[in-house]
Amino acid sequence: MSEVKAVPISDGVFKIDGRYHTLNLVPGRSVYGEDLLQLDDVEYRHWDPNRSKLGAFLVKEGGLPFKYDSEVLYLGAGDGTTVSHLSDILTDGKIYAVEVAKNPYRNLLQLSKRRKNIFPIMADARRTQDYRDLINEVDIVYQDIAQRDQVEIFIKNLDFLKLDNHGLIAVKSRSMEVSTPPKKIYQKVMKKLEDRNYQVMMQVDISRWQKDHAVLVVEK
Ligand SMILES: C[S@@+](CC[C@H](N)C(=O)[O-])C[C@H]1O[C@@H](n2cnc3c(N)ncnc32)[C@H](O)[C@@H]1O
Repeated sequence: MSEVKAVPISDGVFKIDGRYHTLNLVPGRSVYGEDLLQLDDVEYRHWDPNRSKLGAFLVKEGGLPFKYDSEVLYLGAGDGTTVSHLSDILTDGKIYAVEVAKNPYRNLLQLSKRRKNIFPIMADARRTQDYRDLINEVDIVYQDIAQRDQVEIFIKNLDFLKLDNHGLIAVKSRSMEVSTPPKKIYQKVMKKLEDRNYQVMMQVDISRWQKDHAVLVVEK
């Protein structure tokens, strides 16, 4: 029988038995019902690509650009499903987690009590002036907001990104135009970003796990 091993992939991310995991910062606790796995006295959390667009990006690309000490602006944090995995990774970093809706924000707030690298901010990501004074310049901007104006929201928030760094946007094509094929929408998004002088480095189709979604990576 072959021995099960945790293979390091990128900072804080491990592949075990063909599936991606993060090291559980709060051992014994599962955040969204994900599997916990004990290996050599260390607890890992399965990162489910069907529940997290960033998790799907990880499976597709085989790695992530986040470092142990990255500072991240996360827009559309929801209940904190994906934020919790970033919290596992960024042991010396910070996540500024912006969420506009009351119910998910309440869960995010609870999560941040156990995970000290999460800084929840209740705000509309269109109104950057409401949180400008609360956050530093960041190493990565990640957005998962299914709104018609999702690209405009992203561009506004790229102001917080340090120069020569990366922003990732999970684009939900159906939120922008229901009848246009997703590929056409992604092209339009790319054009909007390039018109603002953001270079699109990658376009990653994650529709196998997240219907009508792609993740675009831009450089500032
Ligand atoms: C797809 S869900 C987020 C899931 C989460 N990113 C995850 O992977 O765990 C999108 C979230 O964006 C939030 N949202 C929508 N419009 C927003 C806005 N203008 N500003 C901030 N959050 C917004 C919604 O309330 C919702 O919780």
